[in-house]
Amino acid sequence: MAKEKAVRELEDLPGIGEATAEKLRTAGYTTLEKIAVLAPHELSDISGINVEAAKKAIAAAKAATTIEFETATNVSKRRKDLGKITTGAKSLDELIGGGIETNAITEMYGKFASGKTQMGFQLSVNVQLPKDKGGLDGGCLYVDTEGTFRPERVQNMIKSAGLKEEDALNRIIVVRTPTTEKQILTIERADKLIEDYGVKLIVVDSMTSLFRAEYIGRGSLGERQQKLNMHVHQLQRLADKYNLAVYITNQVMDNPGILFGDPTTPIGGNILAHAATTRLYIRKSKEDKRIIRLVDSPNMPDGECVIRITPKGITD
Ligand code: GTP
Ligand code: MG
Repeated sequence: MAKEKAVRELEDLPGIGEATAEKLRTAGYTTLEKIAVLAPHELSDISGINVEAAKKAIAAAKAATTIEFETATNVSKRRKDLGKITTGAKSLDELIGGGIETNAITEMYGKFASGKTQMGFQLSVNVQLPKDKGGLDGGCLYVDTEGTFRPERVQNMIKSAGLKEEDALNRIIVVRTPTTEKQILTIERADKLIEDYGVKLIVVDSMTSLFRAEYIGRGSLGERQQKLNMHVHQLQRLADKYNLAVYITNQVMDNPGILFGDPTTPIGGNILAHAATTRLYIRKSKEDKRIIRLVDSPNMPDGECVIRITPKGITD
């Protein structure tokens, strides 16, 4: 008998061919870990293989899945390697614990023209700053789903930050994605680009608008959420693997169910709410002022601060 092949991908599992693996991926079961925790009947329902075959596939997935244990001391040491990117506003940096963190997803949600995209521009510049100036001396992968990337505006921010114009523009890789498929594939295939350009920040602006627009007539909220779930987890995978920061933007919808307080809710439901490490809510105030509220953070108390969007960029 031939020696058994090492199990690395879904296709390597017994009874799982290429077509079945594809089916699983489409349903959001993209990794061996995800298969390993399924019940046989669940895997059978999702993939169409029978329960006996499902049992064998799950056992193989479990065998191939390793769990790495680590002491809290180690975790603490690793967290010291975490990078932070300044937002340009000290008050905001303080609110979130020093800046936009690597290894994590930071979400900014708010109404149109509130400043979500402007913050994405500013971060794509600031990530390039040297570490002692609040950057990570890295490049930026900028996924532009709405066609709102403006190099002229970014150029102004580059000048104000004291970076060399041409060099800095060359370290921002812009990918325009007009469909959710392109948006997902860009992230799925980003590894090489990240390595080649030393990317330390991924911006996805906007994370949700294409999903919202495309799935409106399809009547399948479940499918949309599954795709969004897979997408956001792929972003987290890159954040972990390359110790990079992820900044995503999100729109809001009116929630007439809320009678008191601010009746706006971010799009994307629980999937995004759980996946984003830090959630920020931005809203307009007087003139160029914006109020930013820290809604969710793993280690900082909720709170608010005020920033400004000036001709030079984001400031206090
Ligand atoms: P949507 O993508 O429509 O949801 O909005 P957004 O939250 O991304 O808004 P965006 O970041 O595009 O903010 C737009 C606002 O930023 C404008 O209304 C201006 O107040 C400000 N702004 C945009 N460009 C400039 C600029 O070049 N100089 C200055 N001073 N302000 C700008
Ligand atoms: Mg925008």
